[in-house]
Amino acid sequence: MLRSLGYAGFGSTDLDDWRQFGTRLVGLQAVERSASLLAFRMDDRKQRIVIDREMGEASRFFGWEVADAAALDALGARLEAAGVTVTAEPQALADARRVRALIAFRDPAGNRLEAFHGAEIDDTPFAPGRAISGFRTGPLGLGHVVLTVENIGAVMPFYVETLGFALSDYIEKPFRAYFFHLNPRHHSLALIETGRNGMHHLMVEMFSLDDVGQAYDVALSEPDRIGVTLGRHTNDFMTSFYAKTPSAFMVECGWGGREIDPKSWQPVEMTDGPSLWGHERVWLPHRDREVAREMRMRAAERGLRAPVQVMEGNYRLMSGTCAWWDGVREN
Ligand code: FE2
Repeated sequence: MLRSLGYAGFGSTDLDDWRQFGTRLVGLQAVERSASLLAFRMDDRKQRIVIDREMGEASRFFGWEVADAAALDALGARLEAAGVTVTAEPQALADARRVRALIAFRDPAGNRLEAFHGAEIDDTPFAPGRAISGFRTGPLGLGHVVLTVENIGAVMPFYVETLGFALSDYIEKPFRAYFFHLNPRHHSLALIETGRNGMHHLMVEMFSLDDVGQAYDVALSEPDRIGVTLGRHTNDFMTSFYAKTPSAFMVECGWGGREIDPKSWQPVEMTDGPSLWGHERVWLPHRDREVAREMRMRAAERGLRAPVQVMEGNYRLMSGTCAWWDGVREN
C-alpha cells in the first residue's frame, strides 16, 4: 500500500516570501518552474514541495508514494470498492508532479490526496538554500504532515482502514492528537482535533541538531516567526521548533526522530503530553497552553527523558567512566 509521504503542494500568492522562507530559514533548494509555480528540492528528487499561485490560498495536496504501477492500480481499485471517487490524472499532471503516474481522491475532511509511483530523480546534486547538512528522507519520506480536523473519529477510519495507516500513539490532553505511521518514521501523518478542518504543519527532519539550532536563530531574527518554541517531543523524540510560513500553517524543523519497527509496534495512549520540554505553542488557546505547561512541569519534576537518536557518523561517544552517570543509568 502506501509507503511514505512523497510530496506536498500548497496554494499561495506569496511566492517571493515562500522562496525566502524555504531557502533562507528551512534550507530547501528553490527551483523555478514558472511565474506561478515554485518548487523546492530537499534531496535527489526533482521536487518535494511546491507552492502554486494558481491554487486557492487554503488549498493543498499531499502525494503518497506507492511501489509501482501495479500497487497504484490496486490502491485505486481498493478506494473505489470503498466508495471513494478516484481520478486517474493525465500525463500532463504527472509531468508537473515529476512522477510517472498518479491518481487523486479526497479524504473525508476534503483534503486532496494523490497517490503516485516513479518519482523523477534530478541529474544535479541537491544544493541546500542555506549551509545545512541535509534532510532525512529516503524510505522515511519527506517528513510528516499534521492536519487539523473537526472530528478525528470522522476521518481516522479512512486513513486506517482504507489507506492502511497504522496508529502509532495518541494523546487526549492538552488537545486530542492521533499519530500514524507507514514506515519506520514514527508518524508520517497526525490528526489534531481543533473543530476545524485545516493544515497544521509540515515537518522536515535535518541531519544535524545544529541545522535546527541555526534555523531557530534565523527564525528568532524575524518578528513573529516562531509558532512553537524549541522543544522535544515525547513520542517521536524529535527536537524541533515550528516556524510560521507565509501561508496559514507552520513548518516544523526537526532533528533526531526515532525509528520504530512497524511489525511489532503497539499503539499506546501517552499521558505525558506532546513534549518532554519546551514547545510553547503560540497557536493554542490560553487555557490549553496552561494545561500544556503544567504537564511539562510534571514531566520535569519526574525527570522524564529519552535517549538521543543519532545516525552513524553523527556522534562521538564520550570516553571514560563517571560514577555519577553510571548511577543515573542504573536507575
Ligand atoms: Fe510534528
